[in-house]
Amino acid sequence: MSGRGAIRVGVAAAIAAALAGCNTVQSMLAPAGEQADRIEWVWRVMLWVCVPIYVLVLVALALSLRRGGRADRAEDPGDRQRDERAIGRGLVGWTALIALLLTGLVGASFVADRDLNRAASAPLKIKVTARQWWWSVQYLDDDPSKLTTTANELHLPLGRDARIELASNDVIHSLWIPALSGKLDLIPGRTNVLVLTPTQAGRFRGQCAEFCGLQHAHMALDVVVEDEASFAAWRAHQLEPAKAPDSDETRAGQAVFLGAACATCHSIAGTTAAARNGPDLTHVASRASIGAGVLPSGRDALARWIEDPQRHKPGVNMPAVPLDARERDQLAAYLAELR
Ligand code: CUA
Repeated sequence: MSGRGAIRVGVAAAIAAALAGCNTVQSMLAPAGEQADRIEWVWRVMLWVCVPIYVLVLVALALSLRRGGRADRAEDPGDRQRDERAIGRGLVGWTALIALLLTGLVGASFVADRDLNRAASAPLKIKVTARQWWWSVQYLDDDPSKLTTTANELHLPLGRDARIELASNDVIHSLWIPALSGKLDLIPGRTNVLVLTPTQAGRFRGQCAEFCGLQHAHMALDVVVEDEASFAAWRAHQLEPAKAPDSDETRAGQAVFLGAACATCHSIAGTTAAARNGPDLTHVASRASIGAGVLPSGRDALARWIEDPQRHKPGVNMPAVPLDARERDQLAAYLAELR
């Protein structure tokens, strides 16, 4: 293969890999929900209307440049009048076409937009509260004993409407899960509602889409869409208190957690830690990542995170708690068992 051929194949492979990567996790062009389907439909309508128009504009520009050169040389007043009449007719036709197409696009956008927030009469109710820089996720229920709180991970049952109340505790954020729907802002003092109806099981990624401070880019939301039975099992498990420590190491880790500054910000159900400044850690080890997508889950990552959160997420509200290496290890061992 020639050098140029190899480069072409390489570029094509890179684009294909990038598209494949996006398609499964975070792409509005790979819709996995009813709302994302509608948005993708509008996108396609706009693409197929705007691309031919763009090409027509370029063709018209090229023609006018060519004719312009000739017109400069034309001296016959009769020719010039004929040209001007033709241009006038062309402009009227062109303006009418543009007005018609724009009206069509506005109509398509209106129809899609109207469909986005329609929810069934008894949807799953969730409240997502944006914080600098993580997501608090609460599953609502008329029975207060069935309220569950988690962080940075949203589980949704396949094919069921989820009505998500969006709130913010500090600044304006925006939740965007491209595979499931469009963006919607989370505004302090106001509740917006996002309806999601996933049509494909899998793992997706949401991201804050409104600049909200230093760690705006590190504000990811892992989204898990699963069948109704798996979702029910997950939710039942989330309702349970945290696993009690069952070894000397994890017992020591729990004592470190409750004795150090950790418990002043975090809560772990089943212990005396009940603060709400930081993410709920009752089932932290069941989540895919920590720090809102900064590090993967796991004992090593937890230890590294606790040692120096500012190194992994500069500006984050969590300070480095003064612990010696042994205490940090015990704490990480305890947290890593909280599945
Ligand atoms: Cu929150 Cu950007």
